[in-house]
Amino acid sequence: MGIGFDEKNRLFFIETAHSSMCLAIVDDEGFLCNVYYGNPVGEDDLTYLLRTKIYPFLPSHNSRDRGGFLDMARMEFPSSGVGDYRNPAVCLRDAEGHDASQFTYVSHRIYTGKEKLYGTACDGKEIRIPATFGENAQTLEIELEEKVLGVSAFLSYSIFEDSDAILKSVKLVNKSDRTVIIDRLLSSSLDLDGGTFGNKAPDIITLSGSWARERRLDRRSLERGNTEVYSTRGVTSHQFYPFSALAEKNTDEEHGRVYAQTLIWSGNFLCGSGMDQFETTRSYIGINPEHFTWDLKPGESFQSPEAVLVYTEEGLGGMTHVFHDLFRDHLIRSPYLHKERPVLINNWEATYFDFDTEKLLNIARDAKESGIEMLVMDDGWFGKRNDDNSSLGDWIVNEEKLPGGLTRLSDELEKIGIKFGIWFEPEMVSPDSDLYRAHPDWAVAAPGRVPCKMRNQYILDITRTEVRDHVYESVAKVLRNAKISYVKWDMNRALTDLGSCGLSAESLGRLSYLYVLGVYDLQDRLITEFPDLLLENCSSGGGRYDGGMLFYSPQVWCSDDTDAFERLSIQAGTAMICPLSTMGAHVSASPNHVTGRVMPFDVRGAVALSGTFGYELDITKIPEEERKAIPEQVSIYHRYNEIIREGDYYRIAKNAEEGGYYDAWMSVMKDKSRALVTYIQCRAYPGGKGRVIRLRGLDPDAVYEIGLVGSDDENSFYCSRAKKASWESLAPGNLNGSSLMNAGLIMPNLPGDYAQLTFEINRI
Ligand code: DGJ
Repeated sequence: MGIGFDEKNRLFFIETAHSSMCLAIVDDEGFLCNVYYGNPVGEDDLTYLLRTKIYPFLPSHNSRDRGGFLDMARMEFPSSGVGDYRNPAVCLRDAEGHDASQFTYVSHRIYTGKEKLYGTACDGKEIRIPATFGENAQTLEIELEEKVLGVSAFLSYSIFEDSDAILKSVKLVNKSDRTVIIDRLLSSSLDLDGGTFGNKAPDIITLSGSWARERRLDRRSLERGNTEVYSTRGVTSHQFYPFSALAEKNTDEEHGRVYAQTLIWSGNFLCGSGMDQFETTRSYIGINPEHFTWDLKPGESFQSPEAVLVYTEEGLGGMTHVFHDLFRDHLIRSPYLHKERPVLINNWEATYFDFDTEKLLNIARDAKESGIEMLVMDDGWFGKRNDDNSSLGDWIVNEEKLPGGLTRLSDELEKIGIKFGIWFEPEMVSPDSDLYRAHPDWAVAAPGRVPCKMRNQYILDITRTEVRDHVYESVAKVLRNAKISYVKWDMNRALTDLGSCGLSAESLGRLSYLYVLGVYDLQDRLITEFPDLLLENCSSGGGRYDGGMLFYSPQVWCSDDTDAFERLSIQAGTAMICPLSTMGAHVSASPNHVTGRVMPFDVRGAVALSGTFGYELDITKIPEEERKAIPEQVSIYHRYNEIIREGDYYRIAKNAEEGGYYDAWMSVMKDKSRALVTYIQCRAYPGGKGRVIRLRGLDPDAVYEIGLVGSDDENSFYCSRAKKASWESLAPGNLNGSSLMNAGLIMPNLPGDYAQLTFEINRI
């Protein structure tokens, strides 16, 4: 394991515990090519795989035909305009408009550790870009040079001792005395030989969706041409997640070679794979070139975000484990990462805008009685915001709704014994607001155009220092003056009409990138000034749920769709990459406000328990039997949250693949001593004799006791007597891990649609 350089053969080896990547400096010119990425292979010279000795040969051996080589070679940093017609990682333009470039090797360094990444804001301030961090890292930095333009590219590859991920980023430095335009700079490009997938087209797996339908799994065969997901919305988006994976055919949760990529970034992105005429696949990920140009002036540098590459032969489950561990061990900084988060109740679906102090306190009193630990006051507490048409930007409490302001409310909540959380949407301004009336030029807008409104609001131009400072101060002032433990940071529209009076015409193409830096700067300041604050990000549900935001907040509101059935796919898709400990999930009222679906309370609870857990309902109005069930649900959360938060997560069955009948997943503590298994019967299965689910991740040689959660309580709401009886008719005695993983457990056929069984598996 580690990073090495074979000087004789000019090969770089990047080796994690279960993967190797080999790069070669090729030909006298010094092209950087990817020789191999996959299972560990030692440090053999594998350059025969590059086929450089067959026609069209290397450029130095075939001066007649350079293009043949460039269009076939597995380039590590492909550029445009010189003979490689596939998707480039970099496109540069000189002042006269020429857009050819070719990067070749200059030097490299291998060092212990990993440097932080910084981007440069309008005012020259260096703003940290989210990236993985940790003591046990090693980095290879390769300098490539574009000789004609005088631009260097520093390609960085880092690994951590305890991870199978490879972290890649690129920094361009203009060493010339003329401005060079960057039209495209991706963070990673990976060329794999068609033989990698047994000479069969691999599948490409992505996550796509919409508002209230985020991150569902898409899987199809990779054909010739490019298959891409992307965002041009200024945020990562509900529509696509910055992730794709190439998987050999028949890859399932446990088996199969998978090459996955994601981006630690919260704005526009492009991510995809293409297959060329020789069956070589090129996977690429980075900032979307659309809405992006960067005028790189002499002496300036530009930093790309960090891409994460994961290779595993252990299927999609193996891939997920690498992502989850990397995010938990090397990306999420919050002090709450390894802590149980307070069980919260949010008033959004309870009251929407129609609330006042008394209503909130009534909810808080009932919540406290049920064991809930925090009240979150959502949208509508400021300005004159009684609907979503006004007041964003005016972060001054509405004393008509909340007499005595936040001080009184937070004092009262303290007396009740419950924490207080609050909602903001700091990046926005309503046209009907004092802020907009005072500073109409603070909104992102293109001259001569009325900017497109979404939810009747505009975006504040936080690329400008004075706007960002104002935004920060208006949020911080509220937090300084009341006892607030939690902030939900929302963002409810996409970027349009890109224009800013803070940027000159030639630098306007920087805006989308600088906007994201602005968000990062604001959140960084927030968690620095308020280190104990629990921050939850949100963007109309899960529109900005990504590795970038997890650098600031340990949790993100997963979706505005709180329907437990819909959440099965949304949460499973999200958990392809993001740990369950980051997933904002609440129990809401039935019928569900988004879908109108009716669901039992225990099923709603079982699904929310696999996230950060809380309630999104009016506890003073729900049926009495549901209210009575909350203390039991809360105690189940306390009892098992550690397994969900810290354990390894396994998808056992996905209802979309099981005819919509059932779904199951489990989490297992790293030491394999405890596991929690959730089985959801989505639809009744007439005439069924019970389904077998095979568990995973246990110690095959250890003996485990299987307990149905709630069955030890006579009056359990979570586990009715009838359910207990159905389980007992099929329950085995203690079993060893091997039996549980190979023979499995039979889930009884339960009456009706939507029923849950949750099992505690303990090593004895
Ligand atoms: C969108 C969020 O996703 C909701 O949870 C809620 O906070 C609303 N915004 C409030 O406007």
